[in-house]
Amino acid sequence: MKLFDVYPINNIEIVKGKGSLVYDENGTEYLDLYGGHAVISIGHTHPHYVERLETQLHQIGFYSNSIEIPLQQELATKLGHVSGKEDYQLFLVNSGAEANENALKLASFYNGRKKIIAFRKAFHGRTSLAVAVTDNPKIVAPVNETDNVIFLPWCDEAALEQAFADNKDQISSVIIEGIQGVGGIQVATESFLRKIRTLCDENNTVFIADSVQCGYGRTGKFYSHDFAGINADIYSMAKGMGNGFPIGAISIAPKIKPVYYMLGTTFGGNHLACAAALAVLEVMEQDKLMQNAAEVGGYLIAELNKFQEVKEVRGRGLMIGIELPEELAHVKKELLFKHHIFTGEAKPNVIRLLPALNLTKAHADRFLEAFTTVLKASAVVSHS
Ligand SMILES: Cc1ncc(COP(=O)(O)O)c(C=O)c1O
Repeated sequence: MKLFDVYPINNIEIVKGKGSLVYDENGTEYLDLYGGHAVISIGHTHPHYVERLETQLHQIGFYSNSIEIPLQQELATKLGHVSGKEDYQLFLVNSGAEANENALKLASFYNGRKKIIAFRKAFHGRTSLAVAVTDNPKIVAPVNETDNVIFLPWCDEAALEQAFADNKDQISSVIIEGIQGVGGIQVATESFLRKIRTLCDENNTVFIADSVQCGYGRTGKFYSHDFAGINADIYSMAKGMGNGFPIGAISIAPKIKPVYYMLGTTFGGNHLACAAALAVLEVMEQDKLMQNAAEVGGYLIAELNKFQEVKEVRGRGLMIGIELPEELAHVKKELLFKHHIFTGEAKPNVIRLLPALNLTKAHADRFLEAFTTVLKASAVVSHS
C-alpha cells in the first residue's frame, strides 16, 4: 500500500525537536518558524507537556463522552480564565475544520436559519460546511456546493450592510478569521469586526470568530478578534491548543443553550487530549507566552519593516506575513535549504511566520540575519 499523494512535500525528515529547533536524521539543526503550520505553541517536546502527557497515558488515555471526565471541566475552567471568557461554554472536538463545522451547525440550530456570510480568500477547513465557507473552488467538491453561503469582499462594510439588508431574517451566522492565514495574513480592521458585531446583534445572527490559526495567544491577545474590543458568539480553535496533539474546540456564548445530542463526537475531549491542552495553557500562563508573542512579534515586525525589498509586512504578534515582490519568490526556499529555517507561505508571494509563542529574541535575530543575507545575495544577482 502506498500513501495517497496529496501533499507536495520538502525532502526533509525531521526526527527530533526541542523548543524552536528541530533536527533531521543527520543531526542537521533547523530553526522552526513555521511550527508545523501554527501548531507548535509552547515549543517542541516542552518538558511540562511531555511529563503531563506521559503521566496521563499511564493513568488512562481514552474513554468516550458517556462518563464523567473531570479533565474536561478543568480545561474549560482554565480556558475560560486564560481567554477572559469565563461565562462561555466549551465543546471539545479534534480539529479546526470540525470546530468550524460544529460552530456553523450550532448557529443554525440556534436561530433556525440557513444562510452564512463568509469572506473572500477565507480558509475554514475541508469538511462539508467548513469547505463551503472556504473561498477556494479547487477544494470544494460538487457535493459540498451550496447556495447558502454568501461570499463578501474582505472588510467591506457597505457590502456587509447590503447583504444583511438583502437577506432579512435569513442570515444564520457570519464567520471570519481575525487575521486571514491561508489568505496571506490579512488583518481584519477593528471597525469591520465591530460592524459585524452590531449587525449580528440587530439581526439575531451568530458571530463566529474562526480563531483556529490566529487565536490561542498567537497575536499577543488570546483571540485576535479581542483587539476590536468585542465578544463573538462562538470562537473556534485548534492548532496551538494541543501543541501537536489533535484537539479543537468551540467556546460558546451563554445565550446559546445546549440540547442533548445536538452535537457529539467519539474522540473529542478524551483524557490525553485534555491533558495536552491543559499542559499548553499551564505553560502559556506560567511563562507569560502571550506577552512574549507580543514582544518578540512586535520586534520582528518592526525590523522587517526596515527592509526596502519587502513590499509589505502584515500581522500581529507571532503571526506575520512578509509580502515579497515576484523576483524574490526564491527567498523561502533559500531560507530553508541554505539557512535551515522553516517558514510558511501564502499565495502569491507571502512568507508566513507562525513560530512557537516562546520564540526567543536570539532566534528572531538568527532569522533576520539569514533574511538579510538572502536579500543581499539576491540584489547582487539581480544587479550583475
Ligand atoms: C483559519 C483556519 N480555520 C480552519 C482550519 C482547518 O483546521 P484543520 O486543518 O485542523 O481542520 C485552518 C487550517 O489551516 C485554518 O487556518
